[in-house]
Amino acid sequence: MILTQEEAGVPGPEGPESGPHSIIQIEHTMATTLEDVGKQVWRGALFLADYILFRRDLFQGCTALELGAGTGLASIVAATVARTVYCTDVGADLLTMCQRNVVLNSHLAAAGGGVVKVKELDWLKADLCTDPAVPFSWSEEDIADLYSHTTVLFAAEVFYDDDLTDALFHTLSRLARRLKNACTAILSVEKRLNFTLRHLDITCEAYDHFRSSLQALERLAEGRLRFVVERVEASFPQLLIYERIRQLELWKIVAEPAP
Ligand SMILES: C[S@@+](CC[C@H](N)C(=O)[O-])C[C@H]1O[C@@H](n2cnc3c(N)ncnc32)[C@H](O)[C@@H]1O
Repeated sequence: MILTQEEAGVPGPEGPESGPHSIIQIEHTMATTLEDVGKQVWRGALFLADYILFRRDLFQGCTALELGAGTGLASIVAATVARTVYCTDVGADLLTMCQRNVVLNSHLAAAGGGVVKVKELDWLKADLCTDPAVPFSWSEEDIADLYSHTTVLFAAEVFYDDDLTDALFHTLSRLARRLKNACTAILSVEKRLNFTLRHLDITCEAYDHFRSSLQALERLAEGRLRFVVERVEASFPQLLIYERIRQLELWKIVAEPAP
């Protein structure tokens, strides 16, 4: 499976699956400002996509939801196995780019009967937007389908700002409580080390905050659910092209009825 950056000669949607590899074409930017972070493909998205391809059993025929999908790469890969993937992020501009990628690769999902639906889901808002005038808003049918059938949530590289990490974890636990079925969340993260003047040392503050949020989720003892957190060994096969550095981590959260 090859990820290309609009290379000349790359087959179009009319027949790439006929070759020895499936080709995913992703429109993206090589570098972005913080405001536009979603417009580039982060290594953790490729790492997560590899795990999706490895754990086809988990995704097979399921309804799944991606949070902070950016270019949509991981959702596109998930839809080759899943039935419906809700691919979510914020901002009409980014979601429009993401939608273009979904259309560009729709033959890959369609081959297995899967579909990707690009929707707005803002972790800073408690409810899904249903205003039909807002681009990528939700229909009542989509919301009913989401809550009735979703069993897998996933997100890549969304832990770079502590406030957003908190919002993401709130969204995860709120969604898990609203879903009819037990669900599994898969999160990828790259442990980034920085030298800070404040500490005069190498630190990984965003990563540390992510790890404490995982612990807090596991300790949460309210409601009908409990959350079981487990780190996934990075020994699954690498099918996509990227450098699998040891700072890449994958975490699995199982939300299940409390005993
Ligand atoms: C570092 S990018 C990762 C993008 C993609 N998952 C990847 O790995 O290539 C973080 C993503 O989180 C999204 N994001 C940031 N704040 C958000 C919010 N409040 N609600 C939903 N998504 C948000 C950004 O738009 C961006 O797409």
